[in-house]
Amino acid sequence: MLNAWRRSARSHEVLMYLIIIIAVVTSCHAWSPDNSQKVINEISKLRTIKFAGNATYPDHFIILNQDAHSILLGGRNHIYNLSVYDFSEIKDSRIEWQSSEAISEMCSVKGKSEDDCQNYIRIYVETEPGQHLICGTNSYKPCCRHYAHVNGKYTVVKEVEGIGVCPYNPEHNSTAVYSKGQMYSATVADFSGGDPLIYRQPQRTEYSDLKQLNAPNFVSSVPYGDFIFFFFRETAVEYINCGKVIYSRVARVCKDDKGGPHQFRNGWTTFLKTRLNCSVPGEYPFYFDEIQSTSEIIEGKYGTDLSSHIIYGILTTPSNAIGGSAICAYNMNDVLESFEGSFKHQDSINANWLPVSKDKVPEPRPGQCVRDSRLLQENHVNFIKTHPLMENAVPAMFGKPLLIRVNFHYRLTAVVVDSQVKTVNDEVFDVLYVGTDNGRVLKVVNIPTVNETAKTVVISENVILPNGAAVKQLKIAPGFGSVVVVGRDEVRLAKLNHCSAQRNCRECVHLQDPHCAWNTRLETCISLDEVRHNTKRDLIQDILRGDESKCRSPQDTRKMSPKIIVPNDIDNDIGSEIEEDDDDDSQDDPSVGEECEDSDDGNNINCAVKQKLVIYTAETLQISVIVAAVVSLLLGFIVGYIFSRRFHPPSQYPDTPFIEQRNHLEGLSGTQSNFLSRPKTINHVINSLPPPPKKDNLDASKDHNIANDGTLQKIKKTYI
Ligand SMILES: *[C@@H]1O[C@H](CO)[C@@H](O)[C@H](O)[C@H]1NC(C)=O
Ligand SMILES: *[C@@H]1O[C@H](CO)[C@@H](O)[C@H](O)[C@H]1NC(C)=O
Ligand SMILES: *[C@@H]1O[C@H](CO)[C@@H](O)[C@H](O)[C@H]1NC(C)=O
Ligand SMILES: *[C@@H]1O[C@H](CO)[C@@H](O)[C@H](O)[C@H]1NC(C)=O
Ligand SMILES: *[C@@H]1O[C@H](CO)[C@@H](O)[C@H](O)[C@H]1NC(C)=O
Repeated sequence: MLNAWRRSARSHEVLMYLIIIIAVVTSCHAWSPDNSQKVINEISKLRTIKFAGNATYPDHFIILNQDAHSILLGGRNHIYNLSVYDFSEIKDSRIEWQSSEAISEMCSVKGKSEDDCQNYIRIYVETEPGQHLICGTNSYKPCCRHYAHVNGKYTVVKEVEGIGVCPYNPEHNSTAVYSKGQMYSATVADFSGGDPLIYRQPQRTEYSDLKQLNAPNFVSSVPYGDFIFFFFRETAVEYINCGKVIYSRVARVCKDDKGGPHQFRNGWTTFLKTRLNCSVPGEYPFYFDEIQSTSEIIEGKYGTDLSSHIIYGILTTPSNAIGGSAICAYNMNDVLESFEGSFKHQDSINANWLPVSKDKVPEPRPGQCVRDSRLLQENHVNFIKTHPLMENAVPAMFGKPLLIRVNFHYRLTAVVVDSQVKTVNDEVFDVLYVGTDNGRVLKVVNIPTVNETAKTVVISENVILPNGAAVKQLKIAPGFGSVVVVGRDEVRLAKLNHCSAQRNCRECVHLQDPHCAWNTRLETCISLDEVRHNTKRDLIQDILRGDESKCRSPQDTRKMSPKIIVPNDIDNDIGSEIEEDDDDDSQDDPSVGEECEDSDDGNNINCAVKQKLVIYTAETLQISVIVAAVVSLLLGFIVGYIFSRRFHPPSQYPDTPFIEQRNHLEGLSGTQSNFLSRPKTINHVINSLPPPPKKDNLDASKDHNIANDGTLQKIKKTYI
């Protein structure tokens, strides 16, 4: 019986359907929302240019300033001026500033190490053309200097105390911003680091007022509108369950806050703060509560036609938890709005924090920028001092993180944005570079769709800093993909432009990198910053979907080598895909299921394979269920068919009916693989008892079956 079935020409059709179904399923799987991350590991094969200063000691590098052609790097006792193109140092404008011997001796006496007792430059601003303000830790005695830059020489004009402006410890997480002739700083104002403050001479947050600041780590500060915004994380005062929890915050002060009346003279009258919500939505949202870094404020279009100002943040889980990191974006309108909501209030210690009812809020509303804050009523100033916390957290854009990384090897630490990169079709996308605490930089593209469901694609993951050093800071350099990566002891200029590494259209389009497009004329994957406008019509790009079908031109289809993937092969296919992407590293064999180890060169390819596998598993399951259903359908059909054959009146021509029926069908359907003809097939098998005239069948069978294997001989045998 089985033999009969196998011999049947129908088996071809069955096979054909199966293949078609699988092909449809596999391509459906390509259309379904892609939650996976595109990972290309380029393991340290990237060429980078390194600047290590005087490499004999820790430098605690920090980028102080950047202009079109140079970056200013603050380090140990020096400011270095580097060309942003090739990282060559402009030695003429190097500034050297050592702590005096008396000061560094005092520092040693207080028990600090020799490395601590140095002057780490933390702040630089050009206050006026040719006038520079520079602050350093100055051996745990923060100090600022005004320099004049005349005839290529820097000369000290005056020296002032830097307490409250510059940190004592070069590792302290401080921030400062200069706006409208004034320096706003968020740091600590004592040797031991126990007095955090947000300061602009002479206003400061209250000394040891835990409602205002509670063991904060400051991340960034930006001017926006009438305000200066500060981003930081701190121990949450409103969390009254046992244990301590850290929340991320955004705080603001008015630029023209002049302090309050009388004894409030040196306090802020506008200091307010609120929580930043970066969470995976659900009944019990999962929070990423510890902000590590923010971008600048960026203006752009995200899904709608209206342009908005947003800021990207990196937020992580606590350091004692599983390493989870997320990128959340915040719309500045949402930030402003949460400062317009209710204030939070606690009646007594251990009581819950509740929103303050509207009638208890004084007029004018505290926290607004007023003409002269010194004229405010005392009850007004008192209210804001005791109610600095807002009820509503700032929601993340799209209500959820743009990207989540859960990883045993690293957390995200820093972010910088190449904003609103224009594509061939004049769409715009933000390209983000994200640093990790083990020396990697991810290149990420934020793809918001009209539906406001942002889909973020990781284009590449690159090891930049050796020995797993943490990335502290990132800056964009000129040229698509150029990024300055700051570690504690060295700074590198890296080019994360992967266009030329893509060998065919499929790879180029699939990358979804707004920097790259396939040039059909030159047949290369080009970087768009190297194209003149008039050639744009030769370019193929699809950032939204990475849809390779746009590549279907004769020469490209040849290169694409279309293949039908049967479910069992999916895992292998993932492996080979990564292998392809990473062919420089032929020593790496990304065999599936291998340990996810982090070797010295930071090779993490196996992790990447694993991540993909995890993601594919659910889909593979889905495919297998569908295939199983189809197979059982077919089996049922075959059994039914066999039964119908069984109870058939015995035929005079024992072997022929199979062929005849088949041939008749071919005549009806015209093509081998016509889906629509299938129901007819079934009908026909059941109904067509009298076989059609033999002769026609013979011809048709010859025509048709030559293309097929195996059956041909049998058919011939039957008729000869
Ligand atoms: C590094 O610093 C040491 C001590 O300050 C000095 O002797 C040496 O010349 C410096 N090296 C370079 C390359 O600047
Ligand atoms: C750094 O060097 C560049 C190029 O010579 C120069 O234009 C710029 O003013 C320098 N910056 C500082 C702060 O000296
Ligand atoms: C500053 O932030 C980094 C990164 O989150 C953290 O590892 C470090 O401990 C912080 N520094 C201080 C002095 O708290
Ligand atoms: C944070 O956002 C999530 C989802 O958008 C929401 O469910 C949750 O209630 C928010 N949490 C706070 C504290 O606002
Ligand atoms: C928005 O989402 C719906 C379903 O979720 C989809 O049908 C529609 O095509 C989407 N619109 C756009 C412009 O992406």
